Amino acid sequence: MELLRDIVIVLHLVGFALLFGSWAVEALARRIRITSTMHIGLTVALVSGLALAAPWGLDGDLNYMKIGIKLIVLIAIGAVLGIGAARQKREGAVPPALFWSAGLLTLVNATIAVLV
Ligand code: HEM
Repeated sequence: MELLRDIVIVLHLVGFALLFGSWAVEALARRIRITSTMHIGLTVALVSGLALAAPWGLDGDLNYMKIGIKLIVLIAIGAVLGIGAARQKREGAVPPALFWSAGLLTLVNATIAVLV
């Protein structure tokens, strides 16, 4: 059970890596756009995060305040990616504020995960 939980944590980190990594690739190439890899990373982080939010394969307690905040931030990232992708399709460009918010909010969630 504990090993399975560790595997889901690795999956959770893969989701984070896909989301932040694909965003960083675009940012470093100065391409302000939303890619499908960002959506995939977000989905993997959400599904694995929800699985980890259930108390199985654990000795101690879960910090539900932290998990709730991370879920709200993830929903905000989803909104930013969704609105950004729609604008990109309709108008051919993503408002830069939406693009930068996606990366910043992802970093905020990783910081909350590690520090809180
Ligand atoms: C972009 C969104 C997210 C990022 C970047 C992220 C990042 C991380 C990271 C880096 C860890 C490992 C921290 C550590 O073990 O010290 C972690 C653990 C965890 N995350 Fe997330 N996370 C995200 C979304 C979520 C969501 C939406 C949920 C639940 C609704 C969630 C639930 C958890 C739980 C329960 C753990 C702890 C695993 C454990 O210690 O057993 N995460 N997250």
